[in-house]
Amino acid sequence: MNLNGKCAVVTGGGRGIGKAICLKLGGLGADVAAVDILRPEAAATAKEVETLGRKAVAVACDVSSPAEVRAMFAEVVDSLGGVHILVNNAGITRDNLMMRMSDDDWNKVIDVNLSGAFNCCREASRYFLKQRFGRVVNVSSVVGLMGNAGQVNYSASKAGIIGLTKSVAKELATRGVTANVVAPGYIDTDMTRAISEEARSTLISLIPVAKLGKVDDVADVVAFLVSDDANYITGQVINVDGGMLM
Ligand SMILES: NC(=O)c1ccc[n+]([C@@H]2O[C@H](COP(=O)([O-])OP(=O)(O)OC[C@H]3O[C@@H](n4cnc5c(N)ncnc54)[C@H](O)[C@@H]3O)[C@@H](O)[C@H]2O)c1
Repeated sequence: MNLNGKCAVVTGGGRGIGKAICLKLGGLGADVAAVDILRPEAAATAKEVETLGRKAVAVACDVSSPAEVRAMFAEVVDSLGGVHILVNNAGITRDNLMMRMSDDDWNKVIDVNLSGAFNCCREASRYFLKQRFGRVVNVSSVVGLMGNAGQVNYSASKAGIIGLTKSVAKELATRGVTANVVAPGYIDTDMTRAISEEARSTLISLIPVAKLGKVDDVADVVAFLVSDDANYITGQVINVDGGMLM
């Protein structure tokens, strides 16, 4: 696989899975825009990508704002010379049982996880259609497929990402654009380090391979889906979950 000559936008690129995706794509030859609401983290990722010999830019952007997303793409194209790959990875959780979930916690998670992916897909499509090439990978979660008590907002946003992606795949299929979903199970990141030791052991007992995933397990699949090796794959959901949901 090589991504020479490609420019990639990775949202939530400041840490965790997004950072691993930036480094993986950079390692395969892509120039990378690390986009995050946290500017210093995005800048650190961009610096690491540069050490791989690629061009990189850090852009501070809240993906839930259509205006910020528009400005972000303009800045990326200005700095890197184009955009060919979009990875919608930025995501948040605001967990609570449904009875206790506030309007704000519902809306915030939908705004960032689902509307954020929509805002970026819509903006990227303007560039992809013109060049008749584009690769979209949207990061969902297995809980978008199976539900999870305490996560109605997050599960709905991640299920929505699947419908969004399949529709994007159908709309843009004849224009050289593919769109796929990666649905991680439990991956060892800041997001899951918040889980108690006891809950962690229970979780591991539900995973056939009996361990949490690593950020690189997800990044490797994303890299495949944006590469030429996956030219004939679109509208698919690939679970990266150690067999948890099968
Ligand atoms: N860690 C897991 O087990 C797991 C499992 C399934 C799915 N996922 C999904 O993978 C993605 C990455 O998760 P992670 O574990 O690396 O999380 P993380 O919290 O470590 O990283 C998420 C990144 O997104 C950024 N971000 C948050 N809101 C943003 C916004 N409005 N605009 C731009 N950037 C924003 C954060 O600053 C952070 O850098 C998320 O979409 C998450 O839902 C994670």
